[in-house]
Amino acid sequence: MVSERDGISGADRCRCVADARLDELEQSSQVPRNYRNASFDSFDALDPVYGAALQGAMLQIKGYANNYPVTEKPGLLIVGPPGTGKTHLAVAALRQLLARGHEAVFFDYLNLLDRIRSSYNEALGASNREAYRTALETEILLLDDLGAHRVTDWVQDTVTSIVTHRCNHKQALIATSNLSDPKIGGSPDYRIMLEDRIGERARSRLFEMCLVVRMPGAPDYREKRSVIR
Ligand SMILES: Nc1ncnc2c1ncn2[C@@H]1O[C@H](COP(=O)(O)OP(=O)(O)OP(=O)(O)O)[C@@H](O)[C@H]1O
Ligand SMILES: [Mg+2]
Repeated sequence: MVSERDGISGADRCRCVADARLDELEQSSQVPRNYRNASFDSFDALDPVYGAALQGAMLQIKGYANNYPVTEKPGLLIVGPPGTGKTHLAVAALRQLLARGHEAVFFDYLNLLDRIRSSYNEALGASNREAYRTALETEILLLDDLGAHRVTDWVQDTVTSIVTHRCNHKQALIATSNLSDPKIGGSPDYRIMLEDRIGERARSRLFEMCLVVRMPGAPDYREKRSVIR
């Protein structure tokens, strides 16, 4: 029997608390406005040539989210050419995990590095220092466009420290990248290697901890959409 107080049933109260918790998790996830509606349902895999491969990639990513945290590997690395839906699907997985009550945070890789760098400056300090701590400690980290920063020792050391920390503690890391790698191939148009940008140690740990999903070389959806409109 569902108990009732002040005309509100216990079930309604529970639903309200769950909705408030989801709102709170979604706010703190920092998913950019552009991707707030990205989901598995809104992913269009109807392309006549690449449809089956797009559907296959989506199902692998959905499988990762459905099985979390009972996954052999705690990470997910989504690679492929620009505009093929890597960030869309990474956010779809993250939103599914938020809906199940997990804590997850989206970081654009360039922006995260900028924030960490400015945290050394006292005047810009606290919230940027917090960004580094969040990247290390949050339950699920989505690192979008991994390797997009031009390479420096500092960048390699920083990304290595984040990936190593998460790998050692078996914490989830969802990363997207359009760089190439001998292990995953890559379009001849994208000759920059993942290892060149993030360093050998971060790359090695990334492959140790991640299920790798390769998006097919489908046309850029941004262009496809602008033709449809
Ligand atoms: N198959 C798809 N169905 C619906 N929307 C899509 C699909 N693929 C991409 N999109 C949309 O197109 C835009 C570009 O996709 P997205 O940002 O996920 O590409 P990406 O692979 O991450 O590209 P980049 O390498 O440039 O970061 C987004 O608005 C996304 O929601
Ligand atoms: Mg992207």
